[in-house]
Amino acid sequence: MIKSVFCEMVGIKYPIIQGGMAWIADSSLASAVSNAGGLGIIAAANAPVEYIREEIRKTKKLTNKPFGVNIMLLSENAEEVAKMVCEEGVKVVTTGAGNPGKYIEMWKAHGIKVIPVIASVALAKRMERSGVDAVIAEGCESGGHVGEITTMAIVPQVVDAVSIPVIAAGGVGDGRGIAAALMLGAVGVQVGTRFLVAEECTVHDNYKAKIIKAKDIDSVVTGRPTGHPVRVLRNKLTRKFQILEKEGAGAEKFEALGVGALPKAVKDGDVDNGSVMAGQIAGLVCKTQSCQEIIKEMFSQAEETLNTVKVV
Ligand SMILES: Cc1cc2nc3c(=O)[nH]c(=O)nc-3n(C[C@H](O)[C@H](O)[C@H](O)COP(=O)(O)O)c2cc1C
Repeated sequence: MIKSVFCEMVGIKYPIIQGGMAWIADSSLASAVSNAGGLGIIAAANAPVEYIREEIRKTKKLTNKPFGVNIMLLSENAEEVAKMVCEEGVKVVTTGAGNPGKYIEMWKAHGIKVIPVIASVALAKRMERSGVDAVIAEGCESGGHVGEITTMAIVPQVVDAVSIPVIAAGGVGDGRGIAAALMLGAVGVQVGTRFLVAEECTVHDNYKAKIIKAKDIDSVVTGRPTGHPVRVLRNKLTRKFQILEKEGAGAEKFEALGVGALPKAVKDGDVDNGSVMAGQIAGLVCKTQSCQEIIKEMFSQAEETLNTVKVV
């Protein structure tokens, strides 16, 4: 059985975090992942603070296992959410898109394990100095906001640079990905794209179908001129973004085109004109399963993979 220091740190069976996913990772997905032995995460994204509070309370009713909240630092209400998680007794916070430095003291005072997502060695080191418990090193294969470095390259460099535990994210879709992440020195993985098609994931069925249909080359990165590029599956919307890029349009035009695009795909199921965030590993994701099946299958394949490695 694959165990690591990360399991002890947050009190879980399998060293896997379900990535926070804006508009998608709610109490249904988070509680199912936690009940299956991973660490379920509720994504706060730009949602109103009272909605997130309610999702936390629902999750507590659906599972007695540990779970966490992902806070998007770019969000206007990040500070409010940062305080609310302390009031609600949340045990783990992951953060996306930035440096959570100013909240760390408050979270630590409330006994919260703090695990930021980072996409560079420099930020990992800064986070370690600020007293975080672990970091999630995310490669640009991942769905959603991306940095510039691949998982294969960033994970070992971060592992060498810090002495806190490192979780690998980006492109992990099955047990071989877990085995590879462990070989690179990570003590666990964070997975987004594969959980998008979980039975308990409340994303629109059209979104799930598009992930299942996707091939290896079907994701693209859009919005580079905004400074916040995102990886999504190709569709009419990404073609419009590509035209803007060719025209050399300014950031405001990109932002205008992106307004409301994620909920359009997630809630309305408009996967042609909405933003279908997903990682490069979507090409490997081929069926809907429960979170329990996904996690069990991934870890038994990881064990099998690690056991069959032979160097002759
Ligand atoms: C639809 C979608 C939405 C995401 N939203 C967030 C978010 O709100 N906050 C965050 O930190 N990461 C976000 N991510 C990144 C995931 O948490 C996770 O790190 C990533 O999906 C891992 O790579 P993978 O997609 O290859 O599994 C998102 C990813 C996807 C696919």
